[in-house]
Amino acid sequence: MDKNITIPKHIGIIMDGNGRWAKKRMLPRNMGHKKGAEVFQDITRYCNELGLESVTFYAFSTENWKRPVEEVNGIMSLLKDYLKKAFDYQKENNKIVFLGDKSAFDKELYDLMIEIEEETKDRTGMVLNIALNYGSRGEIVRATKNIAKMVKNGAIDIEDIDENLFSDNLYTKGQPDPDFILRPSGEKRISNFLLWQIAYSEFIYMDVLWPDFTRKDLDNAIIEFNKRNRRFGGV
Ligand code: FPP
Repeated sequence: MDKNITIPKHIGIIMDGNGRWAKKRMLPRNMGHKKGAEVFQDITRYCNELGLESVTFYAFSTENWKRPVEEVNGIMSLLKDYLKKAFDYQKENNKIVFLGDKSAFDKELYDLMIEIEEETKDRTGMVLNIALNYGSRGEIVRATKNIAKMVKNGAIDIEDIDENLFSDNLYTKGQPDPDFILRPSGEKRISNFLLWQIAYSEFIYMDVLWPDFTRKDLDNAIIEFNKRNRRFGGV
């Protein structure tokens, strides 16, 4: 990467196109997810090498439970395999945070997620957010309920509610907002991803399907981001 390029602090990635990748090859959809999970691992490593502060991958939405049971089961077993290997990331010193409601997962996955968050919480390297059973509207409702409880029990006054307090009640507490959201596979939707956090984020859409996504594609996205003129509402 050219040394004049500014490396973003936080990138959000919607891993899309696994199903189409498999279909093109006459393979079951879960083969697309399997390849997608390999790409997830490689791109995570690359984000570490680039020196990002945070990266967020959208791996499973609250709506994805509606998929056929074999597909959901296939994704769950992939997640288990990968989360068991998550401790390989030790050398990268990643703090791993799960965005979403963990209580919907089976005990094995739930325990793994709690253990990984606990074991990695004091790490000082890149924050690796994995959105699982995540939906941004649900996250916003959850933050609102937390804040309402604080008002009800007298911990804060209504006047204390501001944007910072709201951000601190989201799963991404303490992290910079994403500089850009990347969606491969040609789709141009946000799909209930980080709605609060993306107020000033750039959007970068690419035609490549996620299982074909490479480090070079991420370089190109960062180069494209560098060409954008972010004014944050100013001139
Ligand atoms: C979207 O593609 C992808 C998913 C809903 C699942 C993503 C899951 C993984 C990459 C595997 C597990 C992740 C980790 C963190 C190890 P799609 O199925 O909607 O593709 P399509 O639009 O082509 O059908």
